[in-house]
Amino acid sequence: MKALDKFFKLLLKVFVSAGVFGFVYMVVSDLTRKPEPFTPKPRPIIEEASTSKTQNTRKSAASTTPAPTPVATGPQSSGEQLFTVNCAPCHQVGGAGLPGIAPSIRNRDFLAIASDEFILNTVRKGRLGTAMAPRPDLSEEAIRNIITYLRSVPVTNVITVKVDDSLKFAGNAKAGADIYLRYCSSCHGPNGEGYTVGVPGPGIGLPGFLSTVSDDYIFQTLKQGRIGTPMQPFLGARGLANLSETDAHDVIAHLHELGKHNAAISASPVAEAGDAKRGRMQFDANCVACHQPGGVGKVGFAPSIRNRDFLAIASDDFIRTTIQKGRLGTAMVPRADLSAQVVNDIIAYLRDLPIENPIELKIDSSLRFNGDAQKGALKYASFCATCHGPQGEGYMAGVPGPGIGLPGFLDVASDDYILKTIQHGRVGTPMRSFIGARGIANLTEEDAYDIIAQLRVMGKNHGGGQ
Ligand code: HEC
Ligand code: HEC
Ligand code: HEC
Ligand code: HEC
Repeated sequence: MKALDKFFKLLLKVFVSAGVFGFVYMVVSDLTRKPEPFTPKPRPIIEEASTSKTQNTRKSAASTTPAPTPVATGPQSSGEQLFTVNCAPCHQVGGAGLPGIAPSIRNRDFLAIASDEFILNTVRKGRLGTAMAPRPDLSEEAIRNIITYLRSVPVTNVITVKVDDSLKFAGNAKAGADIYLRYCSSCHGPNGEGYTVGVPGPGIGLPGFLSTVSDDYIFQTLKQGRIGTPMQPFLGARGLANLSETDAHDVIAHLHELGKHNAAISASPVAEAGDAKRGRMQFDANCVACHQPGGVGKVGFAPSIRNRDFLAIASDDFIRTTIQKGRLGTAMVPRADLSAQVVNDIIAYLRDLPIENPIELKIDSSLRFNGDAQKGALKYASFCATCHGPQGEGYMAGVPGPGIGLPGFLDVASDDYILKTIQHGRVGTPMRSFIGARGIANLTEEDAYDIIAQLRVMGKNHGGGQ
């Protein structure tokens, strides 16, 4: 756990220096328009929001936003830029990887073993059950640009490795289990679960890994190791463990057994109550790169989800749906691949937070307020647009707040959920209470109804169904 904490501190540092705001902005702009060079806008401050009632608001509220179009990533987005935006939050700036978070993919030995097709497939299909979510939204051209960038790493002592994907080794899984336990499990987890059990190595016993790699890919990795990472060569006299080729074949056979074991677990529809301890490890492996250690969020990047007011308003089902369906058009990618158990565990972890001054709020999701969207447009522009974007686009507009005008949010948030958020704000974040004498804007509930009606109009403008 000490080591993990160190990684997170490192992560934080790298994030700050890498300008992660660009990440979400570009991911989303990839989805909605042609890429343009990223220039972060200065972040408005809270005081501005409450005093800017008369600024230019009408015009921005009335401007129309183009409907989302399929990703067309033009040739001007260099692979490096695409990498920085889409991959660096986990694979780190320059692709060096971070044990416990994501492997090094701009690496002499990885690149010698992995073909372009292998990388392309990994990005498209992801590694189910891990933070490496599939990215079918990235065009082939975009991914090839990223690959070109990966391959542009300056390499000393170039090696060439031939991987024969057609080879199948007939190892002895039983014998392999012993070797695995002795030499691999401390870094890859007792069942090859990888990062989700708090170990430094990736999930080499997970079906998502095993279904995209050939036996020879694993064999060559064992023989070669991965320079600059904790993954050492294990084979032969110069290897860490002097394993024979037969030993390696046995370990590979055991990995396939682990794959079946792990597939059975994640397919199990019955889930027990969540376990906060396991949930923390799942959170740290799957969510921390964006929602930050402890789930405190990062303004302009990802909301706080381990937060008194969020948790008082969000039901377990709300959180579950958000994880499963994601928030389309934002960096919150759908994670339908996480098992019911994993999701229960993560929710238990979020809810395990010791809370000062707990509040209890009842959300009646059947309520529909019949506000006046036209009036709401003006009020939205005055009180909300500076932080949530002129059309509720959220982070992609370079603002500090999430995309509350996007269908991904509006499809899961009831009118009452939004009302209560406006009423109570979210402690510890720039989202303040706006209603009543103690709110920063002294809005009435009726004002809020109008704003909610306007948000629903925005959702439709962004291609939503409601
Ligand atoms: C949210 C975190 C995250 C993001 C963003 C991400 N990855 Fe990954 N990636 C991972 C993790 C975790 C793994 C290892 C999964 C496992 O345990 O097998 C991985 C594995 C990979 C692998 C396989 C590496 C190997 O050693 O076999 C490739 C290739 C890869 N990612 C490419 C990319 C590219 C390209 C992007 C950007 C388009 C990207 N990833 C974005 C987390 C991420
Ligand atoms: C000291 C810790 C450590 C030990 C021991 C270890 N590994 Fe690794 N292994 C890692 C790390 C860390 C990576 C990711 C390397 C990177 O950053 O690219 C890795 C990567 C791998 C990969 C490539 C995974 C991928 O996503 O492409 C394979 C395969 C692998 N290890 C197999 C094994 C096997 C089999 C053993 C036991 C014989 C073993 N490792 C022992 C730490 C370890
Ligand atoms: C690649 C970055 C990224 C990762 C990884 C990620 N999220 Fe998110 N998440 C976001 C962003 C960005 C938003 C806000 C989207 C919006 O509405 O504008 C968000 C929103 C959410 C929300 C809604 C919060 C609210 O205020 O309504 C929940 C709940 C959530 N994420 C949970 C998770 C969980 C659990 C995981 C891990 C399984 C996870 N996220 C992984 C980026 C991420
Ligand atoms: C000073 C900036 C600021 C202003 C002004 C502001 N918000 Fe927010 N809002 C935020 C931030 C930041 C968050 C995310 C909080 C977090 O990290 O959990 C947020 C969160 C929210 C959420 C929860 C979104 C979710 O994903 O669950 C809603 C709903 C919301 N705001 C509505 C509004 C409305 C309506 C207004 C105008 C009356 C408004 N906000 C004004 C900054 C602001």
